[in-house]
Amino acid sequence: MQKRENFASQFGLIMAAVGSAVGLGNIWRFSYIVGINGGGAFLVVYLLCVVLVGLPVLIAELTIGRSSGLSSVSAFQKLAPRSFWWIVGVMGVLAATTIGCYYPTVAGWSLGYVFESMFDWNALVGDTGAAFTEFSAGWKAIVFAAAALAVTVVVLLRGVTAGIERCSKLLMPMLGVIMVVLVVRSLTLPGAMEGVRFLFAPDFTKLTVGGFLDALGHSFYSLSLGMGVMITYSSYMKKDTDLPSATVSIVTMDTAIAILAGLAIFPAVFAMGLDPGEGAGLAFVTLPAAFASMPFGQIFSILFFLLVFIAALTSLISILQVPLALLEDRFHFSVKKGLAVVSAVVIVFGVPSVLSFGPLAGFTILGMDYFTLMDRLANDIFLPVAGLLGILFILFSFGVAASKREFLTGSKRESHFLATIYPFAIRFIAPAAIIVILLRAALSFAQG
Ligand code: PHE
Repeated sequence: MQKRENFASQFGLIMAAVGSAVGLGNIWRFSYIVGINGGGAFLVVYLLCVVLVGLPVLIAELTIGRSSGLSSVSAFQKLAPRSFWWIVGVMGVLAATTIGCYYPTVAGWSLGYVFESMFDWNALVGDTGAAFTEFSAGWKAIVFAAAALAVTVVVLLRGVTAGIERCSKLLMPMLGVIMVVLVVRSLTLPGAMEGVRFLFAPDFTKLTVGGFLDALGHSFYSLSLGMGVMITYSSYMKKDTDLPSATVSIVTMDTAIAILAGLAIFPAVFAMGLDPGEGAGLAFVTLPAAFASMPFGQIFSILFFLLVFIAALTSLISILQVPLALLEDRFHFSVKKGLAVVSAVVIVFGVPSVLSFGPLAGFTILGMDYFTLMDRLANDIFLPVAGLLGILFILFSFGVAASKREFLTGSKRESHFLATIYPFAIRFIAPAAIIVILLRAALSFAQG
């Protein structure tokens, strides 16, 4: 078997993990669910979910990956031989692959919108709703989704250090800079404060049960949890990696980027008198309309969609690395052969997702189009189930004490406040919260 690679530096691995966490979830998904859930109050609940549920599950996944030194399925087999815990890993791989089947669609939209903003600006902003429909239903959506996938494959071909780590070290700081430019632009528009108030001033009367639960699910999604991504990435971390500080960086940066994205989007939307509750089209329909009416809007539009594409790319890389690492670790595939298999699967199951906005728009399963089905399947079923089973694995097989010990191994300090609260959070708070998400999924399914 080939020697397994490791991330070369603490900075590099943090950028890779942050690159995975910061994605379409932070910009496209976060802004639209904040928008439909009425703003500030939702943000408060989301932040609570990140701290109370996301954080402990992240620690659990990082310790599983690093102590085994293997990717998802193999990690469970090594830590709990002759048991069935590896099924948890399989669920994670299924979740990652399911997300991998629709993520390139949206990544493709953002890449396409960089070019549309550059070369077809007038058509794009004439009627932004019609422009989006035309773009997402046509051949361009396929071409750009394929391009997004191709770039991802090229990075993965280069391996963990030269591909994933280098690319993340370059792109994540770039993302930070673009984000700051956009936030400054948005905040200096006349009327911007309305948007800031929408994002930060909590109005709890606007919060529904569904919104509360959306926040919980999204904290998982945004931190790339429950699908073996963090297990796989931490398996490339060396024993002297400082996990507590990596954990703090991942959670802080992921959350900060989501809030910054909110600050880039809502003030612009409000300043231009548009509706924040547009839904999934917020970034692609409402925002271009806001860009259209601001000075130098074309340039800000190009920057914004470039930002979304960078965020999507580093996440898509991590999503595909999960099945790829499984094929390498478990079945001893070479990177090339593994990538050929993974790409083939993603293409076969991903094409219908692109076409859901065009020829397959009328084709529904269980009342959902294919794209929505993939998103719901992953978010409502695979993620929470795999997350919950991962916690049970910590509680009943790996051991909370062993996980905590692994967490502190390599840290410069003897103890850390996260290590102190971790046992309680992973035993009680996180599992209780996930059970709530599952019940919600079951209920909404039952209600159709
Ligand atoms: N965390 C990513 C985001 O916020 C999404 C993601 C899902 C990444 C699954 C990896 C795996 O967009």
